[in-house]
Amino acid sequence: MSDQPLLRVSGVSKFYGTRTGCRDVSFDLYPGEVLAVVGESGSGKTTLLNCISTRLMPTAGTVSYRMRDGRFRDLYRMGEAERRFLMRTDWGFVHQNPADGLRMSVSAGANVGERLMAVGERHYGNIRATATDWLGRVEIGADRIDDQPRAFSGGMRQRLQIARNLVTGPRLVFMDEPTGGLDVSVQARLLDLLCGLVNDLGLAVVVVTHDLAVARLLSHRMMVMKDGQVIESGLTDRVLDDPRAPYTQLLVSSILQV
Ligand SMILES: Nc1ncnc2c1ncn2[C@@H]1O[C@H](COP(=O)(O)OP(=O)(O)OP(=O)(O)O)[C@@H](O)[C@H]1O
Ligand SMILES: [Mg+2]
Repeated sequence: MSDQPLLRVSGVSKFYGTRTGCRDVSFDLYPGEVLAVVGESGSGKTTLLNCISTRLMPTAGTVSYRMRDGRFRDLYRMGEAERRFLMRTDWGFVHQNPADGLRMSVSAGANVGERLMAVGERHYGNIRATATDWLGRVEIGADRIDDQPRAFSGGMRQRLQIARNLVTGPRLVFMDEPTGGLDVSVQARLLDLLCGLVNDLGLAVVVVTHDLAVARLLSHRMMVMKDGQVIESGLTDRVLDDPRAPYTQLLVSSILQV
């Protein structure tokens, strides 16, 4: 891992009127590092993820990102066009519901190819070859390249969404409950696939999950949220094996009893 962070989050808060979404969250994320954000429903995980990925304007705090030229830029002072370019190329965002991250009425190949075109690829043959390659990497057969995602199962859609996000070689990927709406056996395979890709590509990831097994398998470090605040953070194995905050102890033990 490099000695410079990729993402710097400092004092991020988001209030919805009088309700707290998240409050005073700070952390650094390093290249190749996977950070899991865990906590019960309503603890502010999605709010935080949206604030740090520029999908939602925080009420307070700053988020800066180290661009490919090595310079840190404040994400909320960047122009809209530049921010959009970053989101299309350097970043990925995997939604819990694949329909939110895919174009459902264009083919699987086009869903992947579109992102390549956004980074300047124009050659049809190259686009199709790369799309086929990426479909293979997420275990979708080449014979499905012209099918629309609406003809895919939930697990296939999620794998397609992952291919669409990774094809541009992003440095940072945000994921909100990537294995959320899937049945258990499909979840396990998808998680396996994700672990492999994240390791192979050396991706930095912020993954939101309420599933501690996902955090255990995928992440190096984790943050536990409650009522919008981070109540514990540390290396994943340390937090799960030796939780310090009473709430984390409860969270860990309630999962173990299942
Ligand atoms: N658009 C909104 N308007 C008002 N309040 C909101 C809005 N979005 C979220 N909240 C509130 O902010 C708090 C945090 O919600 P958030 O969606 O970030 O939680 P979460 O940890 O992602 O929960 P889940 O695990 O259920 O997805 C909750 O109290 C929620 O009701
Ligand atoms: Mg959420």
